[in-house]
Amino acid sequence: MNIRRTVLTLGKRARAELKGQRPLILWMTGLSGAGKSTIADRVEDKLWRCGHHTMVLDGDNLRFGLNKDLAFTDSDRVENIRRTAEVARLMLDAGLIVICSLISPFRRERTLARQLVGADEFLEVFVDTPLDECIRRDPKGLYARAIAGEIPNFTGLSSPYEPPDAPEIHLHTAVHDVDTLADHVLGELRRRGVIACLP
Ligand SMILES: Nc1ncnc2c1ncn2[C@@H]1O[C@H](COP(=O)(O)OP(=O)(O)OP(=O)(O)O)[C@@H](O)[C@H]1O
Ligand SMILES: [Mg+2]
Repeated sequence: MNIRRTVLTLGKRARAELKGQRPLILWMTGLSGAGKSTIADRVEDKLWRCGHHTMVLDGDNLRFGLNKDLAFTDSDRVENIRRTAEVARLMLDAGLIVICSLISPFRRERTLARQLVGADEFLEVFVDTPLDECIRRDPKGLYARAIAGEIPNFTGLSSPYEPPDAPEIHLHTAVHDVDTLADHVLGELRRRGVIACLP
Protein backbone atom coordinates (compact mmCIF):
# COMPACT_ATOMS: atom_id res chain seq x y z
CA MET A 1 0.00 0.00 0.00
CA ASN A 2 1.42 3.38 -0.99
CA ILE A 3 -0.58 5.57 1.34
CA ARG A 4 0.16 6.43 4.92
CA ARG A 5 -1.99 8.33 7.38
CA THR A 6 -0.98 11.97 7.90
CA VAL A 7 -0.73 12.74 11.59
CA LEU A 8 -2.47 16.01 12.43
CA THR A 9 -1.82 18.24 15.42
CA LEU A 10 -5.49 18.69 16.21
CA GLY A 11 -7.95 15.90 16.79
CA LYS A 12 -11.68 15.53 17.27
CA ARG A 13 -11.51 16.42 20.94
CA ALA A 14 -9.64 19.70 20.39
CA ARG A 15 -12.00 20.77 17.64
CA ALA A 16 -15.06 19.85 19.68
CA GLU A 17 -13.72 21.57 22.82
CA LEU A 18 -13.49 24.86 20.96
CA LYS A 19 -17.16 24.44 20.05
CA GLY A 20 -18.02 23.56 23.64
CA GLN A 21 -19.80 20.35 22.74
CA ARG A 22 -19.62 16.59 22.47
CA PRO A 23 -19.75 15.50 18.83
CA LEU A 24 -22.33 12.93 17.89
CA ILE A 25 -24.10 11.30 14.96
CA LEU A 26 -27.89 11.09 15.08
CA TRP A 27 -28.84 8.54 12.42
CA MET A 28 -32.50 8.86 11.45
CA THR A 29 -33.95 5.90 9.59
CA GLY A 30 -37.48 5.19 8.39
CA LEU A 31 -39.71 4.82 5.35
CA SER A 32 -40.06 7.53 2.74
CA GLY A 33 -42.52 10.07 4.11
CA ALA A 34 -41.96 8.90 7.68
CA GLY A 35 -40.79 12.37 8.69
CA LYS A 36 -36.99 12.03 8.87
CA SER A 37 -36.19 15.28 7.06
CA THR A 38 -38.94 17.20 8.83
CA ILE A 39 -37.81 16.09 12.29
CA ALA A 40 -34.08 16.43 11.45
CA ASP A 41 -34.71 20.02 10.42
CA ARG A 42 -36.57 20.79 13.66
CA VAL A 43 -33.94 19.08 15.80
CA GLU A 44 -31.16 21.05 14.11
CA ASP A 45 -33.03 24.31 14.64
CA LYS A 46 -33.50 23.55 18.34
CA LEU A 47 -29.82 22.59 18.74
CA TRP A 48 -28.75 25.79 16.98
CA ARG A 49 -30.91 27.79 19.37
CA CYS A 50 -29.04 26.07 22.21
CA GLY A 51 -25.75 27.27 20.69
CA HIS A 52 -24.65 23.96 19.18
CA HIS A 53 -22.71 23.44 15.96
CA THR A 54 -24.55 21.06 13.68
CA MET A 55 -24.88 19.70 10.17
CA VAL A 56 -27.70 17.81 8.50
CA LEU A 57 -26.81 15.17 5.93
CA ASP A 58 -30.08 14.57 4.12
CA GLY A 59 -30.30 11.63 1.74
CA ASP A 60 -32.15 13.53 -0.94
CA ASN A 61 -29.79 16.51 -0.84
CA LEU A 62 -26.72 14.29 -1.06
CA ARG A 63 -28.13 12.66 -4.17
CA PHE A 64 -27.88 16.05 -5.94
CA GLY A 65 -24.11 16.08 -5.43
CA LEU A 66 -21.87 13.55 -3.71
CA ASN A 67 -24.18 10.65 -4.54
CA LYS A 68 -25.60 11.79 -7.86
CA ASP A 69 -24.04 8.84 -9.65
CA LEU A 70 -26.03 6.36 -7.53
CA ALA A 71 -29.44 4.82 -8.24
CA PHE A 72 -31.74 2.87 -5.91
CA THR A 73 -30.57 -0.68 -6.56
CA ASP A 74 -29.54 -2.60 -3.44
CA SER A 75 -25.83 -2.15 -4.21
CA ASP A 76 -26.21 1.58 -4.85
CA ARG A 77 -28.20 1.99 -1.64
CA VAL A 78 -25.35 0.30 0.21
CA GLU A 79 -22.81 2.65 -1.37
CA ASN A 80 -25.10 5.61 -0.60
CA ILE A 81 -25.00 4.71 3.09
CA ARG A 82 -21.27 4.01 3.10
CA ARG A 83 -20.41 7.41 1.63
CA THR A 84 -22.82 9.23 3.90
CA ALA A 85 -21.45 7.46 6.97
CA GLU A 86 -17.89 8.34 5.97
CA VAL A 87 -18.83 11.99 5.52
CA ALA A 88 -20.64 11.92 8.87
CA ARG A 89 -17.50 10.53 10.47
CA LEU A 90 -15.42 13.38 9.01
CA MET A 91 -17.93 15.87 10.37
CA LEU A 92 -17.77 14.14 13.74
CA ASP A 93 -13.99 14.62 13.61
CA ALA A 94 -14.68 18.30 12.93
CA GLY A 95 -16.53 18.42 16.26
CA LEU A 96 -20.07 18.68 14.94
CA ILE A 97 -23.38 17.17 15.96
CA VAL A 98 -24.33 15.46 12.69
CA ILE A 99 -27.92 14.57 11.87
CA CYS A 100 -28.23 12.03 9.06
CA SER A 101 -31.66 11.56 7.55
CA LEU A 102 -31.79 8.71 5.08
CA ILE A 103 -34.19 5.82 4.59
CA SER A 104 -31.17 3.51 5.14
CA PRO A 105 -33.39 0.43 4.77
CA PHE A 106 -30.83 -2.26 5.55
CA ARG A 107 -29.83 -3.19 9.10
CA ARG A 108 -26.39 -4.29 7.99
CA GLU A 109 -25.44 -0.91 6.52
CA ARG A 110 -26.76 0.96 9.56
CA THR A 111 -24.58 -1.29 11.68
CA LEU A 112 -21.58 -0.56 9.46
CA ALA A 113 -22.25 3.17 9.87
CA ARG A 114 -22.42 2.70 13.63
CA GLN A 115 -19.17 0.75 13.68
CA LEU A 116 -17.25 3.56 11.95
CA VAL A 117 -17.38 5.62 15.15
CA GLY A 118 -17.26 5.14 18.91
CA ALA A 119 -20.10 3.43 20.76
CA ASP A 120 -21.09 6.67 22.51
CA GLU A 121 -20.93 8.71 19.30
CA PHE A 122 -23.83 7.18 17.37
CA LEU A 123 -27.51 7.21 18.19
CA GLU A 124 -29.95 5.43 15.90
CA VAL A 125 -33.29 7.20 15.68
CA PHE A 126 -36.15 5.13 14.31
CA VAL A 127 -38.69 7.45 12.70
CA ASP A 128 -41.50 4.97 12.97
CA THR A 129 -44.49 5.59 10.74
CA PRO A 130 -46.79 2.85 9.47
CA LEU A 131 -46.60 2.28 5.72
CA ASP A 132 -50.31 3.13 5.37
CA GLU A 133 -49.72 6.52 6.97
CA CYS A 134 -46.71 7.20 4.70
CA ILE A 135 -48.86 6.33 1.68
CA ARG A 136 -51.60 8.67 2.96
CA ARG A 137 -49.10 11.52 3.48
CA ASP A 138 -47.15 10.92 0.27
CA PRO A 139 -45.44 14.35 0.54
CA LYS A 140 -43.54 13.92 -2.73
CA GLY A 141 -46.19 11.97 -4.63
CA LEU A 142 -43.75 9.06 -4.85
CA TYR A 143 -46.02 6.37 -3.40
CA ALA A 144 -48.71 7.12 -5.97
CA ARG A 145 -46.13 6.73 -8.73
CA ALA A 146 -44.58 3.62 -7.18
CA ILE A 147 -48.00 1.97 -6.78
CA ALA A 148 -48.68 2.80 -10.43
CA GLY A 149 -45.52 0.88 -11.26
CA GLU A 150 -43.52 3.92 -12.34
CA ILE A 151 -40.77 3.64 -9.69
CA PRO A 152 -38.88 0.36 -9.28
CA ASN A 153 -37.17 -0.63 -6.01
CA PHE A 154 -39.39 1.54 -3.84
CA THR A 155 -38.82 0.95 -0.12
CA GLY A 156 -41.81 -0.56 1.64
CA LEU A 157 -43.44 -1.63 -1.64
CA SER A 158 -40.98 -3.33 -3.98
CA SER A 159 -37.83 -3.07 -1.86
CA PRO A 160 -37.55 -4.15 1.79
CA TYR A 161 -37.29 -1.97 4.89
CA GLU A 162 -35.67 -3.62 7.89
CA PRO A 163 -36.72 -1.79 11.07
CA PRO A 164 -34.08 -1.29 13.77
CA ASP A 165 -34.03 -3.94 16.51
CA ALA A 166 -32.94 -1.67 19.31
CA PRO A 167 -32.82 1.99 18.29
CA GLU A 168 -31.56 4.38 20.96
CA ILE A 169 -34.49 6.68 20.16
CA HIS A 170 -37.88 5.52 18.85
CA LEU A 171 -40.22 8.18 17.46
CA HIS A 172 -43.88 7.39 16.76
CA THR A 173 -44.93 10.04 14.28
CA ALA A 174 -48.54 8.91 13.98
CA VAL A 175 -49.00 9.64 17.67
CA HIS A 176 -46.93 12.79 18.36
CA ASP A 177 -46.39 16.01 16.43
CA VAL A 178 -43.05 17.19 15.00
CA ASP A 179 -42.26 19.60 17.81
CA THR A 180 -42.95 17.04 20.54
CA LEU A 181 -40.76 14.48 18.77
CA ALA A 182 -37.90 16.97 18.27
CA ASP A 183 -38.14 17.88 21.96
CA HIS A 184 -37.98 14.20 22.79
CA VAL A 185 -34.73 13.88 20.81
CA LEU A 186 -33.24 16.88 22.61
CA GLY A 187 -34.41 15.44 25.92
CA GLU A 188 -32.54 12.21 25.14
CA LEU A 189 -29.40 14.18 24.24
CA ARG A 190 -29.68 16.01 27.53
CA ARG A 191 -30.24 12.81 29.47
CA ARG A 192 -27.11 11.34 27.90
CA GLY A 193 -25.05 14.42 28.76
CA VAL A 194 -24.53 15.47 25.13
CA ILE A 195 -26.23 18.84 25.57
CA ALA A 196 -27.01 20.91 28.63
CA CYS A 197 -29.85 23.16 27.55
CA LEU A 198 -33.51 22.31 28.00
CA PRO A 199 -35.55 21.59 24.88
N1 LIG B 1 -45.48 13.74 13.54
C1 LIG B 1 -44.88 13.98 12.35
N2 LIG B 1 -43.54 13.92 12.26
C2 LIG B 1 -42.93 14.15 11.07
N3 LIG B 1 -43.57 14.47 9.92
C3 LIG B 1 -44.93 14.54 9.97
C4 LIG B 1 -45.64 14.30 11.18
N4 LIG B 1 -46.95 14.44 10.94
C5 LIG B 1 -47.07 14.76 9.65
N5 LIG B 1 -45.87 14.83 9.05
C6 LIG B 1 -45.65 15.16 7.63
O1 LIG B 1 -45.11 14.00 7.00
C7 LIG B 1 -44.26 14.39 5.95
C8 LIG B 1 -42.89 13.74 6.15
O2 LIG B 1 -42.09 14.05 5.06
P1 LIG B 1 -40.50 14.03 5.11
O3 LIG B 1 -40.04 14.61 3.82
O4 LIG B 1 -40.00 14.63 6.37
O5 LIG B 1 -40.23 12.46 5.15
P2 LIG B 1 -38.86 11.69 4.97
O6 LIG B 1 -38.87 10.62 6.01
O7 LIG B 1 -37.73 12.64 4.97
O8 LIG B 1 -39.04 11.02 3.55
P3 LIG B 1 -37.94 10.70 2.42
O9 LIG B 1 -37.25 9.44 2.85
O10 LIG B 1 -38.75 10.47 1.18
O11 LIG B 1 -37.01 11.86 2.31
C9 LIG B 1 -44.18 15.91 5.97
O12 LIG B 1 -45.08 16.41 5.02
C10 LIG B 1 -44.62 16.26 7.38
O13 LIG B 1 -45.20 17.52 7.48
MG1 LIG C 1 -36.27 13.15 3.58
